[in-house]
Amino acid sequence: MSLVVAIAFTVYLSAAGPLLFARGGSAPVDLGPLPAGLASTDASACAGCHAEIAAEWRGSGHASSWTNKVFQDAYAVEPLAPCRNCHAPNNDGGLPAQLAASDGVSCNVCHVRGGHVLGVHGVTVAAHAGRVEPQLREATFCASCHQFGFFSEVDGQQVELAEPQQDTWGEWTRSSASRQGISCVDCHMPRSGQGAASHRSHAFLGGRDLTMLRSAVTATVTARREGQDVIVDARVVAAATGHSFPTGDLFRRAEMTIRAGDAVKTLSYARRFRDHVAVRQDGQIIRERREVADTRVPPPGAGIAPTRQVRFVGSTVAEVTWSFDYLIMPTIDAAAGGTPVERLGLFQGTATVATTRPDQPTAGEE
Ligand code: HEC
Ligand code: HEC
Ligand code: HEC
Ligand code: HEC
Ligand code: HEC
Repeated sequence: MSLVVAIAFTVYLSAAGPLLFARGGSAPVDLGPLPAGLASTDASACAGCHAEIAAEWRGSGHASSWTNKVFQDAYAVEPLAPCRNCHAPNNDGGLPAQLAASDGVSCNVCHVRGGHVLGVHGVTVAAHAGRVEPQLREATFCASCHQFGFFSEVDGQQVELAEPQQDTWGEWTRSSASRQGISCVDCHMPRSGQGAASHRSHAFLGGRDLTMLRSAVTATVTARREGQDVIVDARVVAAATGHSFPTGDLFRRAEMTIRAGDAVKTLSYARRFRDHVAVRQDGQIIRERREVADTRVPPPGAGIAPTRQVRFVGSTVAEVTWSFDYLIMPTIDAAAGGTPVERLGLFQGTATVATTRPDQPTAGEE
């Protein structure tokens, strides 16, 4: 194992026992034999008995992880094995066959191993042989896909580097949620359904759900006159989230747009990267990508994003309007600023430009 890979792996918790899913997309899922009682482990087979869960999952990003157009556009540019292993884990080494593609992160990816259906409750049913698997509820399990480094070609092989491409688990470890024992499933799998049908939701709502997004942060904007100019302060603070806002895909971002009359200024809450050519210890030259800035909102417990300021020079407006949006970016040209695939409006408002009384000199006039 090369040094870079070794570092990347020590970034993760070293979980005891075999992992449910190989880290960083290093292998497709290994389901093992069919659990006794089941004729198939395809989602359609589970759906016969777990209809509500299956419907929730079908609408989730997990079910469409391969077919999703944003993914497909990015994969067309970088068609690598690790992409296939996380986005269509039921592939058998090459391009995913029909079901591996249409079902993406399917039921069996999380629930079937070695002839058992893995659960957390330990219920015994005639329908399938089961086993309790505590790993399933743990953040480290989600991290096997939601935490990984950039890839670089070394000796014709894709090697995972230490620099995180997605750092959701790392961000969570630094949040107050993790210190309070609040894990990914506590927020992303709330109880759904009534009475006997009550179960953990499998909709896995996140960055495409307005309620979830609006619960994550609060935004406040104030404006004041300073001499000939209007100064606007924008403050975005984390609320009920468990990682940076936004997290996940490296090009996800949020944007504050502020308008003073015809003038428009934007503030971006995003990670920024730069490509490097690096010489490794063994003398090999590799291309790697490194984060050079992170202006996202840190999670509760990991610091407060600084208030950001914009200045409208020579503006005479009495009020400014603002909107705070969540942007799903096309991966390909996102680095160059690209046009978002989707712009979800989270908050908007109007701020009156505060003026100091005429007998009081303003800072700008002194
Ligand atoms: C013939 C009906 C049937 C089929 C098919 C079926 N299940 Fe189940 N399963 C049940 C019943 C009944 C229970 C117990 C009640 C419940 O939890 O819904 C159960 C329980 C479970 C549990 C909870 C186990 C625990 O101890 O926490 C999981 C997880 C599960 N099934 C997953 C699956 C998956 C994944 C599939 C498809 C590969 C599947 N089931 C197919 C009937 C079925
Ligand atoms: C086998 C890999 C894999 C595992 C394990 C996994 N995920 Fe995912 N998850 C994905 C992929 C891939 C996507 C993205 C689909 C897309 O948008 O293309 C995703 C999407 C999501 C989303 C939706 C994000 C959005 O933008 O709406 C949430 C929430 C999520 N996962 C939470 C979890 C949680 C919680 C766990 C652990 C219980 C988990 N995931 C385990 C691969 C995985
Ligand atoms: C990304 C991983 C993931 C996928 C995909 C997934 N599940 Fe689950 N499932 C979980 C986790 C984690 C739990 C345990 C949640 C808890 O109780 O803490 C769970 C719980 C369950 C339960 C027990 C119900 C309950 O309330 O705890 C059943 C039944 C189940 N899943 C069936 C399915 C079926 C059927 C599918 C596909 C249609 C599926 N799951 C897809 C992760 C997943
Ligand atoms: C305290 C609740 C909470 C915890 C804990 C939490 N999340 Fe989230 N998650 C959210 C909320 C709210 C959003 C909506 C936007 C945001 O905060 O980034 C979200 C969004 C996401 C997204 C979509 C990308 C985005 O930023 O919109 C993914 C993927 C995700 N979470 C995965 C995870 C994983 C994996 C874990 C565990 C390591 C986890 N979450 C822990 C609340 C939580
Ligand atoms: C270790 C697992 C893993 C690997 C390897 C991986 N991804 Fe992902 N990918 C994810 C997860 C998890 C998400 C969901 C995060 C989110 O919702 O922001 C995701 C999200 C994405 C998205 C954003 C989708 C959207 O709807 O916004 C794109 C695009 C993407 N991946 C492309 C790729 C490509 C191309 C590759 C290979 C070069 C790749 N991924 C390799 C796990 C992986």
